[in-house]
Amino acid sequence: MFSALNIKPIVQLYDLHPPLDDFRAEVLQGLSQSEKIVSPKFLYDKQGAELFDAICTLEEYYLTRTEMAILQTAAAEIAELVGDSVLIEFGSGSSQKVRILLDAMPQLPAYVALDISKQHLYESCLDLATVYPNLETIAICTDYTQPLQLPDIPTLQQSHKVGFFPGSSIGNLEPEEVVRFLRNAANILQPHGGFLIGVDLKKDKAILEPAYDDSQGISAAFALNLLTRMNQELAADFDLSQFTYRACYNPIAGRIEMYIVSLCDQIVQVAETKIAFRAGEQLRTEYSYKYSIAEFHALAAQAGFQARSVWTDPQQLFSLHYLQQTEATDRAFLE
Ligand code: AVI
Repeated sequence: MFSALNIKPIVQLYDLHPPLDDFRAEVLQGLSQSEKIVSPKFLYDKQGAELFDAICTLEEYYLTRTEMAILQTAAAEIAELVGDSVLIEFGSGSSQKVRILLDAMPQLPAYVALDISKQHLYESCLDLATVYPNLETIAICTDYTQPLQLPDIPTLQQSHKVGFFPGSSIGNLEPEEVVRFLRNAANILQPHGGFLIGVDLKKDKAILEPAYDDSQGISAAFALNLLTRMNQELAADFDLSQFTYRACYNPIAGRIEMYIVSLCDQIVQVAETKIAFRAGEQLRTEYSYKYSIAEFHALAAQAGFQARSVWTDPQQLFSLHYLQQTEATDRAFLE
């Protein structure tokens, strides 16, 4: 006879049921505009996610390895700042980068991963919980770009909180969306929450453009995979040989702009709707904003955060910011 054993689950999963994207409606809406656009969130189907992982290993794509090196160098200082707060990662994906921090933070009581993809979130957190068995690991399936409320869990109510948003994913938002995102995050991190954010720095376009249009054509394949996805999921008939990829730095807006470009006048069928492309017409897939340290601090200030620390690499390619909510912000929340 076996008696019931009180085995603590190693990952607590909370499904906040984020609404599913309507790929068809959003694509048709974006393709009917005078400047055609499809949201970058649709780049990440299974094939797209694999291509993005491949981008992160490219020589030209300096962002990933540079941020990881900064995290390694700054880990002990970050551990001091985080103390015994709970660490909450926004868009945790495979929860790889956070391991650099966890290795330096044996005192951390809990790690909370927020991600929209439930299965991937749960599997990644199980892997993590196996490597860090003493860490309380909480997985929350939610759309972290929307206003959110955390579930009523004692660990979250009793502890200070520090957010973690690596990878310069913040650069894929428009500046006004950055402020909105930071304000939403402030809501769940308060009072006096910290926020550790990776931000790509402004630099010469001779470094920036190859990072987004590499010699092996992986960045191009990543963008053009959107056409393949539309062919497969929306019964579209894009002929991939009649489109190309373009990435260019816009120094005035401070962003890399990524487009799929039509090579000829053509009409494409997408979900039973005919879409006309002129030769040279562009379909925007992504913006990736780059910020100086001062510019990023100014955006953070608009959301009630002030700079506590910032680390960069010796070549000043990438920045890692530790922000803290100001006391005035805390007061505003309490009133
Ligand atoms: C996810 N994000 C931070 C990438 C970037 O650098 O803006 C997306 C990307 N797109 C093409 N290459 C990388």
